[in-house]
Amino acid sequence: MAKNPFKKNPDTDFKDIEKLDHKEAEKQVEQLREAIDYHDDRYYTKNDPVISDQAYDTLFKRLQDLEEEFPDLQSPNSPTKRVGAEPVDELKKKKHTRPMLSLDSALEKSEIEDFIDYVDRHIDDETEYVLEPKLDGLSVEVVYENGSFDYGTTRGDGTTGEDISENLKTIGSLPLQLQHDGEIPQKLAVRGEVLMSRSGFQEINKKRVNEGKEPFANPRNAAAGTVRQLDPKNVADKPLDIFFYEMLQADGWEVHSHWEVLKQFPEWGLKTHPLNKKVKSMRDAVKYHQKLTDERDDMDYEIDGIVIKVDDFSQRETLGTRERNPRWAMAWKFPPKKEMTRLRDIVVQVGRTGMLTPVALLDPVDIGGVTVSRATLHNEDEVREKDVRPGDKVRVVRAGDVIPEIAERVKERGKERGKPFSMPDTCPVCDTGVVREGAYTFCPAGLSCRAQLVGHIIHYVSGDAMDIENLGEKIVQHLVDREMVKDLSDLYRLEKDDFLQLEGFAEKSSQKLVDAIQRSKKPELDTFLYALGIRHVGQHIARVLARKYQDLGALRKADFDDLKQTREIGPEIAESVTHFFKEKENQKIIDRLQNVGVEVKSVQVSESDELKGLTFVFTGELDSFTRDQAKERVEKMGARATSSVSGNTDYLVAGEDPGSKMDDAKKHDVKIIDEKEFKKLLHDSGG
Ligand code: IVH
Repeated sequence: MAKNPFKKNPDTDFKDIEKLDHKEAEKQVEQLREAIDYHDDRYYTKNDPVISDQAYDTLFKRLQDLEEEFPDLQSPNSPTKRVGAEPVDELKKKKHTRPMLSLDSALEKSEIEDFIDYVDRHIDDETEYVLEPKLDGLSVEVVYENGSFDYGTTRGDGTTGEDISENLKTIGSLPLQLQHDGEIPQKLAVRGEVLMSRSGFQEINKKRVNEGKEPFANPRNAAAGTVRQLDPKNVADKPLDIFFYEMLQADGWEVHSHWEVLKQFPEWGLKTHPLNKKVKSMRDAVKYHQKLTDERDDMDYEIDGIVIKVDDFSQRETLGTRERNPRWAMAWKFPPKKEMTRLRDIVVQVGRTGMLTPVALLDPVDIGGVTVSRATLHNEDEVREKDVRPGDKVRVVRAGDVIPEIAERVKERGKERGKPFSMPDTCPVCDTGVVREGAYTFCPAGLSCRAQLVGHIIHYVSGDAMDIENLGEKIVQHLVDREMVKDLSDLYRLEKDDFLQLEGFAEKSSQKLVDAIQRSKKPELDTFLYALGIRHVGQHIARVLARKYQDLGALRKADFDDLKQTREIGPEIAESVTHFFKEKENQKIIDRLQNVGVEVKSVQVSESDELKGLTFVFTGELDSFTRDQAKERVEKMGARATSSVSGNTDYLVAGEDPGSKMDDAKKHDVKIIDEKEFKKLLHDSGG
């Protein structure tokens, strides 16, 4: 496009939309998109806008109007899509272009010297290094096809991540189209870090607390939690940013060094960190580490160290990779942050498992941008060892997202001290006599202890478990305190009016919560097992158990020997699982959950292999099936059903009033079939 009227001094005196013919509209849509992408780049990436916010808004609104008036001109990568697409049921898995490696990390200078020595021993020529801040956010892969955003994923296990494309699209600094005049790699896969600024983090936490939600622990958790949301609209209004720092693949681009890549990225509109630097020696690295240690608290984005990377690609190749870490790079972390404050009191908290933990209540202190007013003291022995008592001056450390800890007591001469701490003999919540196991102390009352019940419910509703959104800690505490929930099944009996009694709830929010609870009634077996909070059964073991027993009934009856013969299940887990299901109280809870309508899905064993390996997506309403029935049918024949269309989708089954998935299917060249054709695949002639 030679001359775009909307780039410089944009002409916003638009002709009435009705007066445009299709061709004129198409041209204007293209020009507007190109211009808005350009302005996004100037504003978010280059920090150098060339038009006013007002003029930008006018262009944006005009594009929205045109797309509404001419729906066939809509496009998944239009800047208007940054406001957030429709919610999805789950994030689908996606394999990475190349394994996403992680970095070996060091705390001590000597370890970095060893790294440099290692490089020197293996590389004959001079080695140059690139130094970068180690950004403390969420690592993502982003893929462009012919310069156009294709998809983006989380790092996941390094091989497969979760598709978070729609969420990423809402980040202003992530280009939807790369800026370029001529050639661009046909496929470009890059790696970057999604971040939330400290100020943005404080702001959304304030909002969360006002809404009765748990605040995020730090900006990284806030960024990670936000970018993995199921509803992109909940991402669009959050202050996220992205910086790019590695190239994973670039078809046809002859490039020899990382520094060249970092110089090219911003030309395409991919933002890089302004403090990246090319150097030659260990001395430079030490200086850089010191400089960033001093400056980190003043930076708007949290960093937790520096990264040292060999610059030259052929040298990188010579050095190679060990397991999941490249031998050509190393992270040099900052020491955890410590601050001094006063210990006001030591209280005892009871967790989900009944464990009693001494917790230090502190005079609030800012540790690297996060206000800390509590710290864990782990157990009685530790309190004794550190010899901390109420009134003492203490140093508190915060390392990444780890719960703050008391590092040590600061001795004060001539000051009279409080009494030494000792664990109570009875549970501070339910008064039952405690039991001791080594250094640890437990309340044996199980779910009849309120604290354990609260912890149990919080775990049950949490994101990785039943995923009941907006049911946070405070609300659960209220529900238990008011005896509105005495066991898990009571959750499903809650009605709108029950929530209306609680502070901060209105009609809409109450109804939303009731709906969210009801929606969680059909969990997969592994999700449900994990949610029950059986000792030693984390998400992975829950999946192992689900795969082996396939249905809850069978697992409830499984005996110790049978369990123990399962791969990955040792005697400790087998014992814990059999014990759990034998316990009368637990049996009652599961029965009650089933009585209120919780239907744990059995693991589907396919009845035939006929559709094996195929992936289906459904859109619109079908006459003869509900969405769940249709999914179940294809799964029985060996296929998968997912909630959104991607390049991996084989069939989009379109019912009445199909949604935007139709466009996605067309974009990805996915075969679209109607209900009649779908039934044919199922050999289903009747209704
Ligand atoms: S490079 C193969 N550069 O640190 C090297 N990583 O395990 C790949 N990180 O998960 C990583 N800032 O999230 C690289 N400038 C930077 C980084 C960086 C932060 C993160 C990344 C990764 C973790 C290291």
